[in-house]
Amino acid sequence: MLCYAFNNQIRFNKNGEYNTPFGKNRSSFNPTLREKFIDFHQRVNDIDCIFFNMPYEKFDFFEFHNNDFVYCYPPYLNSIATYNEQSGWTEKHEALLLKILDELNEKGVRFALSNNLKYENPLLDEWKNKYKVYYLNGDYSNCNYHKIDKSKDVEVLIVNY
Ligand SMILES: C[S@@+](CC[C@H](N)C(=O)[O-])C[C@H]1O[C@@H](n2cnc3c(N)ncnc32)[C@H](O)[C@@H]1O
Repeated sequence: MLCYAFNNQIRFNKNGEYNTPFGKNRSSFNPTLREKFIDFHQRVNDIDCIFFNMPYEKFDFFEFHNNDFVYCYPPYLNSIATYNEQSGWTEKHEALLLKILDELNEKGVRFALSNNLKYENPLLDEWKNKYKVYYLNGDYSNCNYHKIDKSKDVEVLIVNY
């Protein structure tokens, strides 16, 4: 469904029903995509990894120790994305994630958080000052859903090491 959906997006209406149109001339299961899946599958088989598919709120971060590294790439609060719709990511989600990162920091666990400072987010603006902020150069010019929003991206990586 993802491969053949318009711009490879997954969207749902208020009733939770899938409502992305067919991506005629926009999306397909093509040989390049096939190769990517095969490479990904191969890599995942080669390394020792476990995937968890769950809300981060339910994940036990406190199994981590000071030789571990936690990388987070959450939704950007107040941005437009499928996973932000219908209260998918609110200030509550944001605040809890930042609190978890603070707690990991106190335990000596290194973390990196990707985010974007162009959206209205006083919580993150304040919180980031405790850590090191790398401003990344780059844009989403090839990313269709960002085309409506022409304002400058302030993509950052916030780290505690
Ligand atoms: C900015 S995207 C990053 C996606 C992915 N890491 C990547 O590199 O393409 C944010 C991701 O967070 C996921 N997400 C939203 N709410 C979440 C939650 N409560 N717990 C875990 N993941 C969540 C979304 O589904 C989305 O895939």
